[in-house]
Amino acid sequence: MQKFETRAIRLQMERTHQKEHSTPIFPTSSFVFADAEEMRMAFTEEIDANIYSRYSNPSVEEFESKMASLENAEMAIATASGMSAVFACFACHLKQGDHVLLSQAVFGSTIKLFENFFGKWGITYDLVNSTRVEDWQKYVKRETKMLYLETPSNPALDIFYLSDFASFSKTNKILLVVDNCFATPYLQNPIDHGCDLVIHSATKYIDGQGRVLGGVVAGRSDLVSAIVPFMRNAGPTLSPFNAWILSKSLETLSVRMDRHCENAMGLALYLENKPEVLYVKYPFLTSHPGYQVAKKQMRAGGGIVAFELKGGVAAGRQFIDRVKMLSISPNLGDTRSIITHPASSTHSKLTQEQREQVGITDGLIRVSVGLEHLDDIIADIDQAFGQ
Ligand SMILES: Cc1ncc(COP(=O)(O)O)c(C=O)c1O
Repeated sequence: MQKFETRAIRLQMERTHQKEHSTPIFPTSSFVFADAEEMRMAFTEEIDANIYSRYSNPSVEEFESKMASLENAEMAIATASGMSAVFACFACHLKQGDHVLLSQAVFGSTIKLFENFFGKWGITYDLVNSTRVEDWQKYVKRETKMLYLETPSNPALDIFYLSDFASFSKTNKILLVVDNCFATPYLQNPIDHGCDLVIHSATKYIDGQGRVLGGVVAGRSDLVSAIVPFMRNAGPTLSPFNAWILSKSLETLSVRMDRHCENAMGLALYLENKPEVLYVKYPFLTSHPGYQVAKKQMRAGGGIVAFELKGGVAAGRQFIDRVKMLSISPNLGDTRSIITHPASSTHSKLTQEQREQVGITDGLIRVSVGLEHLDDIIADIDQAFGQ
């Protein structure tokens, strides 16, 4: 098999009669048929034909097949956003009466799906606040059907040992679903460690330039096929334009991630020496509690660095107000470095106690380290400390 970098570039739909070099885009809602008989055969699936872009579209299929290959999965399905991928995965693999084990350190909207929707449809869940698999056993019930986690987690960068969670899930006959958004398929392939399904918010590093929303579910074909009818009937499909952007972006994922990781490591090392910083969180720093595990399952530490400022919420807000170049924005995984203060923004609706349970302390700053020159990123952060 060709290497990751080569597949990310060379997997492409068949060239059209125009002999284009770069991949074309098919922004069309529907497709045409030669006659009534051809259309009948398309609808009865006697022939493999595109019918309507809620069902299939060549640009979307190209992106899906690349994602499947890069995640070492049998099949992938693309969705309109990361959250629609998460929703589709739960909606198609859970039924009334089922129970889910959800890591407390997952993206807030994922927990909201249970609070606002799946709960009223009779699906129960427990939030588990531990990276140690032994702590999860006591929550397993006869009805437990799925274990869902994110590694590294957002924004506290907790690391879960995927092989351990895969063995635990197999023993307990639970489906293991991993949100691989922070690592991307370039840094980590959960399926290689025994996980069943992988979720992505393609909005982040897969686009990598802050332009479009998108999501992916990848895994064994029987598990991903189970989502297809939901996509076709409910319609949270990825648009052909966004699929084309994302497929083109995959061509540069490896080089972008290498630089994101190099810059993030440089920033993390710089921050470790700042007296104003209580601690720095970065998976490839030896001081990170998950360092050994991260080294085993990730190619590099990723592009996100978190650090705790002395002085709590006031210090966090003041720091954000002082940055000049870094963008103040909730997104991440962009070429542009982005800074957030979760306690006063993305996680402000939680109580202080709820935040602290998932490592979001009052002075925590999250930096999505971009692709600008590291010296300029550090210079901006440095001046924000003030004198
Ligand atoms: C880890 C993680 N998963 C899922 C999502 C949701 O993705 P989207 O915003 O594309 O719906 C996000 C968004 O920030 C995220 O950080």
